[in-house]
Amino acid sequence: MLSSSGQTPSTPHLQTPHHAHSAVNIVLDTAYQGIDAADWKTLFNQARSAKLAQFIEDMFAGKHINKSEDRPALHSALRNLSKTPVFIQGQDVMPAVVDVWHRIEALCNQWVGVTDVIHIGIGGSDFGPRLAIEALAHVPGIHSRGMRMHFLANIDTAELARILTKANPHSTRVIIVSKSFTTLETTMNAKAVSKWLQDSGCTPSQITHSLFAVTANISAATAFGISQDHIFPFWDWVGGRYSVWSAVGLPIALQYGFDTFKDFLAGAHAMDLHFKNTPLEQNLPVIMALTLLYQQEQNDVKAYAAIPYADALDWFPKWLQQLDMESNGKSVDRDGKPVKHSSPVVFGSAGSNAQHSYFQLFHQGPEIIPIDFIAVREPMSDRPEAVAHHRILLSNCLAQAQALANGKEASNPNDVYPGKRPSNLLLLPELNAFYLGALLALYENRAATLGALWNINSFDQPGVEYGKVLAKPIEKALASHAQDVQASEHIDVITAARINFLNTTALK
Ligand code: F6P
Repeated sequence: MLSSSGQTPSTPHLQTPHHAHSAVNIVLDTAYQGIDAADWKTLFNQARSAKLAQFIEDMFAGKHINKSEDRPALHSALRNLSKTPVFIQGQDVMPAVVDVWHRIEALCNQWVGVTDVIHIGIGGSDFGPRLAIEALAHVPGIHSRGMRMHFLANIDTAELARILTKANPHSTRVIIVSKSFTTLETTMNAKAVSKWLQDSGCTPSQITHSLFAVTANISAATAFGISQDHIFPFWDWVGGRYSVWSAVGLPIALQYGFDTFKDFLAGAHAMDLHFKNTPLEQNLPVIMALTLLYQQEQNDVKAYAAIPYADALDWFPKWLQQLDMESNGKSVDRDGKPVKHSSPVVFGSAGSNAQHSYFQLFHQGPEIIPIDFIAVREPMSDRPEAVAHHRILLSNCLAQAQALANGKEASNPNDVYPGKRPSNLLLLPELNAFYLGALLALYENRAATLGALWNINSFDQPGVEYGKVLAKPIEKALASHAQDVQASEHIDVITAARINFLNTTALK
């Protein structure tokens, strides 16, 4: 592993001729994709026609690849531990990034006696840190500082109530995380938690002492009442779903120590260097992207699954859903023209649990759904049963891939497995902060690659805004308690009827 100190110990590699590729000691085996040498040649030629290498260069160079918002997508700078200058409009952003690292480290040392941290944020301001906290909770060698780390995302007060019954207000710190600092779920929850501190007898200065913010909108955080030295900035050139590498990832450093956070960044940085500097034919994110492109073109796939055979990665598919579908779930290309392909539906959950849920459909359903099987060589705990259990976990993973690929003949049609169901095997040497970072960066770079291949801007998300706009007049109509709401510019006949029904039956 390339640690933050830059050393690369070697790990054994999978030896599947022609189909095994590796980067940062992560092995990708594409043998069950059914892609032959001639197909690969065509795929790499497609990548060349899409000017993929130029796109990758432009991305790391800070060109405005996010055309609609006229900005770079430079989340890679946040994990650029080598500190090589990264310029935006002639200015190196690295000193500001490094300054935030120093502040994160200092905060880790300052927080003594804190029992609870309430991290308030949603979407990209939630999934990354939540996944990392879960994933690293039982990793041998990573020591938790034992704070209760609560994630508050939903506007539904059930989540708020659950957290507030557990937290001790006098030893709680609150981190409000929002790139825009205008997201209603986050600001409403932040107000509710501040009120809870007040109602629990905290003085105004104790409340100020407890509140922190991570945002690109410093003035809004200041207006909320967060003191300047409690605001951690990030920048408009970091998309929300790509922001866990910024101070959005504070919980990782606070709970597991700054060195663990640095290892997380180091894994991602190592993957970035691979993505940036490796020819397309050996480039892991590119190869993974091309397998999906191939299945889309051959089998018109509309969905794919990511199944980590690691309970600790159960949050990974949720993080991936936002990454892929918010980035590439689009119908028009970078020039506004209709696209032939864009992001399929992404879903998944930890194996082997997933086998007992929806794998029946993978094996015998009419649709072909490609799968990324993600496995870890070493057990993910140091329990005495770990090795025996882990062997069974891996056996299940390998068996499912084989059954899906080869199928099974039978006289009874009900027992026939059609086979030719494609999958990748992604093998991590172990699960730690470094490989978690590398895994997430692999998928981020894969999403960017797919965007380039489909000619889609992967870095904006205009489609999520309209629903938020419509929610405002609807909320107003619900607040009015009126039972005779009529259809209007922003409320159609069906929704008006639903509002009237709700106003007669609930929400008094
Ligand atoms: O759901 C849309 C979105 O804008 C996501 O892209 C983002 O991660 C999330 O809302 C939260 O946004 P913010 O960090 O600005 O609160």
